[in-house]
Order: sequence, then structure tokens, then C-alpha cells
Amino acid sequence: MCGIVGYIGHRDAAEIILKGLQRLEYRGYDSAGMAVINGQMDVLKVKGKVKELLKMTRKKKVHGSLGIGHTRWATHGEPNDVNAHPHMGAYRKFALVHNGIIENYDVLRQDLGQKGHHFAGDTDTEVLAHLIEEIHEMSDVDFTEAVRLALTQVEGTYGIAIVHKYHPDRIIVARKGSPLLIGIGDGEYFVASDASPVIEFTKKVVYLEDDEMAVISREGYEVSTLKNVPLTKEVHELAMNLEQIEKGGFPHFMLKEIFEQPDTIADCMRGRLIVDENRIQLGGLTGVEKRLASARRVIIAACGTSWHAGLVGEYLFEYLAHIPVEVEYASEFRYRETLINEQDVMLVISQSGETADTLAALRQARKRGAMVLGICNVVGSTIARETDAGVYTHAGPEIGVASTKAFTAQVTVLAMMAMMMGRYKKVLSDELMAELVRELNRVPSLVKMILRDTKKIEEVARLFTYAPNFLYLGRSYNFPVALEGALKLKEISYIHAEGYPAAEMKHGPIALIDEHMPVVVIAATDHTNDKMISNVEEVKARKGRIIAISSNGQSEVGKLAEFTITIPEIHDCLSPLVAVVPLQLLSYYIAVNRKCDVDQPRNLAKSVTVE
Ligand code: AGP
Ligand code: GLU
Repeated sequence: MCGIVGYIGHRDAAEIILKGLQRLEYRGYDSAGMAVINGQMDVLKVKGKVKELLKMTRKKKVHGSLGIGHTRWATHGEPNDVNAHPHMGAYRKFALVHNGIIENYDVLRQDLGQKGHHFAGDTDTEVLAHLIEEIHEMSDVDFTEAVRLALTQVEGTYGIAIVHKYHPDRIIVARKGSPLLIGIGDGEYFVASDASPVIEFTKKVVYLEDDEMAVISREGYEVSTLKNVPLTKEVHELAMNLEQIEKGGFPHFMLKEIFEQPDTIADCMRGRLIVDENRIQLGGLTGVEKRLASARRVIIAACGTSWHAGLVGEYLFEYLAHIPVEVEYASEFRYRETLINEQDVMLVISQSGETADTLAALRQARKRGAMVLGICNVVGSTIARETDAGVYTHAGPEIGVASTKAFTAQVTVLAMMAMMMGRYKKVLSDELMAELVRELNRVPSLVKMILRDTKKIEEVARLFTYAPNFLYLGRSYNFPVALEGALKLKEISYIHAEGYPAAEMKHGPIALIDEHMPVVVIAATDHTNDKMISNVEEVKARKGRIIAISSNGQSEVGKLAEFTITIPEIHDCLSPLVAVVPLQLLSYYIAVNRKCDVDQPRNLAKSVTVE
């Protein structure tokens, strides 16, 4: 999920790697490390910034013309010096850096443990290092072959780079699901997870595809498939500048993160949604199902966008798992007489895992005896550490202040939790489970469909760029989406916006509607469709300008609307995952039209660590 850089040539590898890691800093990370070979193998790694690593290399005077480096964004095991990459086997003959997740690390770790391997830390990556070592030491295959054989045993995603103390003439790299490229210089080669560390040295690159590996020497590189079939790769010319590369060619991180959602939702479900077996497996909740199933109530505490995800979670838990839920603003919960006790379970949701109010709510709940579960994006964050159990969202670093991919990953986790608990409690039928497994599995491709054509959204954004107010209406699962759409617009375009349950409008907000008021109607749930039509009629009768987000099945609402943004159909309870995407884009395009600073909106902090 984070950054890799490597160098083999005639220059000082340490310097190039450190510079490269600095270039990768924009991705967000929690630790940094490097291995450089020069007769011996120097491995330095540290929790924190690349600047700390730089200080270490100065002190230790690390030099050599071959090496690899890494910025880690923890997925397994908290960020600390030991878990930082590179990882080595027990004999410390080689060093490995890895981006991605080895899903079957637990099984492999147990197996290797029985064969006498001891692990220094908790990462999935260290398990891969030991697996390579085991194969190499216990058979006659050469080191490159040992890497290849090990990779055939791992499930999950990886981009890896490896250097070996006794083979100072090569870097071995491989890719599956995590990007990796080779930069081609003159008698020197670079390796990187994106082009930013390479671009100042060369514009010629070779992109590795999934299930490919390469051995890179000072003389050239050989690429083959994991099945050992040699390949001839096309050399590409980089046409972008550094800034464009950091943002993946997108003008803003927010847009990049919106477009990443097909991948981040898939990553979030990987190894957890077992489609063939109609099953959900959430390792982080093993052992707590019973207590969760028998809870008097689940209290979800969160702030902002995470609170909106919590509201969707309430509907999902009630419908699929028959578990009573209350959703609390963490900041309110902490100062109320909430009567929480050991019969309750608290579920906190936080992208950053550092939000002060959410942390305070968690601590209060624990003090009063409740079990506390967490849904966090940042591994090893304070909230993740202080909860009794939980599930990571695995959405990768979110840089844009306005949260987007974290929301869809949170809702994905909540849906999986609700389905898992529904099955555990035997209240979710075989048929509905099978349908939801299929539907959830389709979400990444449905989101991709929306992202493929954004013209209509851009057109609506253009027309309403200077509207002073917006109203967002939704019902049922999409009421929280209305709130989220309004929050996105407020945050980045500074337009006043309100989200309401559509039927609540007639109890007051309807007074705001006139021919100038844009009203975004999220009509994506079948079971409230008829009611929604009446609510939209009420807006239309007062000349409100209706922008419908509607699936094909909701064409009635579409007919009433001045503008319709069509989204693909999906089961009602999963529709927030799809319906939110056009709203993220609408706010984005309006903010850009208004020349607002999308990634760093005024007055906002990415993580609110104060009360
Ligand atoms: C969302 O776009 C926000 N910037 C904000 O509401 C955020 O969701 C909130 O501060 C909670 O953050 P957390 O998920 O990191 O706890
Ligand atoms: N899964 C690995 C870890 O947690 C790699 C994380 C990354 O991609 O940075 O160490």
C-alpha cells in the first residue's frame, strides 16, 4: 500500500533511495527503512519519518551501489521499528520490502513456526521472508527460484523487492496487485512503486504486470512470469511531471481517492468475502461474536463522515443481524449520562484512529465495562490499539481532507459485519445471504461504471456552481448518504448544505424551497420508492430544482427531476456504496469550479486530535 524504491548501478544507492523515499512521502506512511549492500548488508529501519532514517544513515555512514528502501503504511502489526521494512529471515542473508497484504500469513506463520522459525514482529511481510528462507535453505534451488516458489504459495497482494548479501549483482522484484516499475538508466536501474522516485533520473520505464517477476542487474533486466515463462516487455516513456505522478495523474488527491474506490472496496473485501462459500470471514472479530450477538445494544460512536457510515451501519445491523443499535456523536456521548455498561458493546469508527472525541467515547465505554470494537483505517493508531477487537478498512492512506474512500470502506466493513452476525445469530436466510454476497462482490465494478462517465455530474456542477444553498434528501439507507453529500459540499466548496430524511422535509425545511433551491434527491432504494416519489412531488410543487440520483428502477423519480444522474441498481441495503459516489464527485467539481483548495479546505484538519 505504500512505497518501494530500489537502485542498482554505479552511484551511491543510499542517497538515491533516501531521495526516492522522500519523493514517496506524499503517500502517507508510518515508518521507513532501507537495505544497502557493500560487502556486508546494512539494514536500517525506523518508525517515523524518512528524515529519521536519513539521520541514521549519516551516523552509520551507509554506502553501496545496490539497495532497496521502503515507506510502510502498516496493515498487519503496529507501526514500530521492528515491523518496519526491510524484513530478513533468521540468517539475515537477504532483505525484503513489500507493499500489499499476504492474506494467508497466519497459516504460513503457524506452519513455519512448527518448523522452528521465530518471528521478531507481527507483519505478514516477515512471514514471506521466512518462507523464502525456508525454501532456499531446505532445498537445492537457487535464491531466485526460492523467491518464485515462495510466491506461488502466498495469497493476497504484493509488490516486492529483494536484495541478497551474497548476490550483490541483482535486485529481485515481483508484482501481484501492487504496482511496481523498473526505471532504465545507463548501466543503472531503478525500482519503484510509482514513477516519482525515478523521474529525475530516467523517463524510460517498464511496468510489471500481475504475476510477473524480474531479476535486475547492472547489465540489464530479465522479466518472466511466476511460472517461469520469459517475457519481452515494452519500454514506456514517462510523459508526466512529478506532481502529476504523485497524484496518479489526477489534479487532486481527493479525485484520485474517489477514483481509487473500486480498488479500495475490493481490497477491503479481499480474503473476507468468500464468494464460493457464501461466507464472511472477519479475522479481527474471532472470539467476540458471542458477546456481540448477545449485546443489549450496540452503540456506534464516531464523528463526521465516520458517523455517517455508522448510521448506515445502524440500518444494516438491525435489518441483517437483528441487533439494536444507537448511533452517537462521539463528542456528545462523552459528556452524557449514557448508562452504558457491560451488557452493551461499543463500536467506534475512525479513519485516522486518532480523533480525540472518538477516543474519549471509547475510553468512557471501556471504563464502564462495555466491550469496545473498532473500525479503523490506520493500523496501530491509538483507537485501533485501545479497542478490544476490530476490523481494518484497508483503504490505504487517505490524503485528501474530505474523506471519500474511507467512507465506502467503512460501509463495506459494516455490511460484512452485519452479514456475518446475521449468519451467526441464524437470522439471515441462506437466500438473502447468497444474494448479498453476490451483490457486495459486484460493488467495485458498479462504482467503476459510475466513474467511467462523469459528464452529467460535471454538467450539474457547472450549472449550480454559484448556488448559495443545497438541500440533500434521502430515505432509509440513503438518509446518511444525504448527510454525507451535504457534508462533502460544505467542506470543500463552502456552500451551505443540509441533509434531511426526505419525509422530514415537510416538517420545516420545505419552507426553504423556491425556484432557486437545488435539491439533490437520492432515490436508490426500492422499498421506499413510492414514498420518495411523493416527497419529490412536494419539492416540485414548490418549484425546487430537483437533481435525482436514481437507479434505473427509480425512473418515476427521474421523470420528476430536472436532472437525473443514473447509478447502477443494487440491493437496497448496499446502495449507499454506490449512491455516495456521484455526490463525492458533485462536490468535487463544484469546489474546483469555485477555485477552492480541494485537498486542504479552509479551517479543516485531516485528523481532529483536539476536543
Ligand atoms: C470528513 O470529510 C471529515 N473531514 C471529517 O468529518 C472526518 O470524517 C471526522 O473528523 C472523523 O475523522 P476520523 O474518521 O479520522 O475519526
Ligand atoms: N502488509 C505489510 C505491512 O503491514 C506492508 C504494508 C505496506 O504496504 O506498506 O507491513
